[in-house]
Amino acid sequence: MVKICGIGAGYVGGPTMAVIALKCPSIEVAVVDISESRISAWNSKKLPFYEPGLEEVVNQCRGKNLLFSSDVEKHVYEADIIFVSVNTPTKIKGIGAGKAADLTYWESAARMIADVSNSDKIVVEKSTVPVRTAEAIGKILSENSKSKGIKYQILSNPEFLSEGTAIQDLLNPDRVLIGGNQDPQGLDAIQKLKDIYAYWVPQDRIITTNLWSAELSKLADNAFLAQRISSINAMSALCEATGAEVSQVSLALGKNTKIGPKFLNASVGFGGSCFQKDIMNLVYICESNGLTQVGNYWKEVIKVNEYQKSRFVHRVVTSMFNTVSGKKIGILGFAFKKDTSDTRKSPAIDVCKGLLGDNACLSIYDPRVTEHQIEKELCMDGVECVNVVGDAYEATRDAHGLCILTEWDEFKTIDYQRVYQNMEKPAFVFDGRNILDVHKLREIGFIVYSIGNPLDQCLININIIN
Ligand code: NAI
Repeated sequence: MVKICGIGAGYVGGPTMAVIALKCPSIEVAVVDISESRISAWNSKKLPFYEPGLEEVVNQCRGKNLLFSSDVEKHVYEADIIFVSVNTPTKIKGIGAGKAADLTYWESAARMIADVSNSDKIVVEKSTVPVRTAEAIGKILSENSKSKGIKYQILSNPEFLSEGTAIQDLLNPDRVLIGGNQDPQGLDAIQKLKDIYAYWVPQDRIITTNLWSAELSKLADNAFLAQRISSINAMSALCEATGAEVSQVSLALGKNTKIGPKFLNASVGFGGSCFQKDIMNLVYICESNGLTQVGNYWKEVIKVNEYQKSRFVHRVVTSMFNTVSGKKIGILGFAFKKDTSDTRKSPAIDVCKGLLGDNACLSIYDPRVTEHQIEKELCMDGVECVNVVGDAYEATRDAHGLCILTEWDEFKTIDYQRVYQNMEKPAFVFDGRNILDVHKLREIGFIVYSIGNPLDQCLININIIN
């Protein structure tokens, strides 16, 4: 029986290993993590984060061929194949701070593997890592091996799942990418990993490449996706200045089969743990290779994202007669996108901080994000005027304005008539995700701003005065 160990029980490691266990009943999968609290959450009824369909998959396999443990070394020792899905955040100090990937967790995982292993292992990079990381990992493994003659094969198998649709993405991936050494041992390791995916993924969707192509493809993938969002967001600003409607522009673009409709929704900006981190890492790699202009090109994608968030805050403040000081603003949505409880790099963080910087009082509601998490993200020191509440009506009661910052479906079906009645007048709506029916809201009496759409006449007047 093949034994797999997944190191790192996070947003990637947890769902990925659970789906492998589900689809390969003859394989034993142990998911390990140094965080005891994460492991105990995986072993409890309340999983460590919200992801549609995850609970069902875990419930089907946990206790059969899927286990979660903090005994990292034991399961690494026993495994034939080790998937490493530890975090690779952006370095916050030292050389490359703000850009380079911090591989501390990866390196310590690799050293621990070398320390405890007593048999040949295939080590799979699931985390997103800089191109040529496998070379460094290979050195760490072979030079620190405690037992002589142990062979390690390193594969790059980057994960393309998106939070919110992770289980669907894993069950039905559009591609699985496996990079490895092109010598006989490397090709043999590639085949072993292919055999696992072949339990449920059609052969033609499993792409094999050399190590460096696979590692770089993941950074390139995120950079290309984020670039589309920044491109349409840049267009949204131009739409507002010209009377074009961004949804019509993106519909026209998306119908072009050479472009396609995905990642073309204008919004308050992209977030999540990956896009910014991976693009900055790409920038760093470009710069380290003397390719400053290429690095600058990708940096602009991030700059447009920052611009989009500050543009939104600016709109809110100027629209509300140039002052939000002491005014209550209802914030609907805090997660970086719908169907996830993840708030890492959520645009809501910067928008809320921007509004607090202008002395607004925020009342925040998100269906899945806890009060503790919101307070942590906003680094609150007790001075700020922030309340986290349990529903959208409470968040907007007596508010002067409301901002939609996450595209949760439930925000589309709120009784906006009721919301309007309980708000101060004039009542403003700032739709940062373009999910609301602007015409209906205007009929009710709201003054509405939605990204990339012609400005409400009232807003034009207010902005002229300001
Ligand atoms: P995460 O922070 O949710 O999970 C990482 C886990 O690894 C943590 O629970 C941490 O305690 C554990 N860990 C760190 N060092 C360890 C060690 N030495 N031994 C055992 N456990 C250790 O991170 P997430 O979001 O799962 O991301 C993991 C990697 O996957 C990152 O490189 C990320 O860029 C990449 N990725 C993330 C995606 C996402 O949507 N979150 C999608 C695709 C790739």
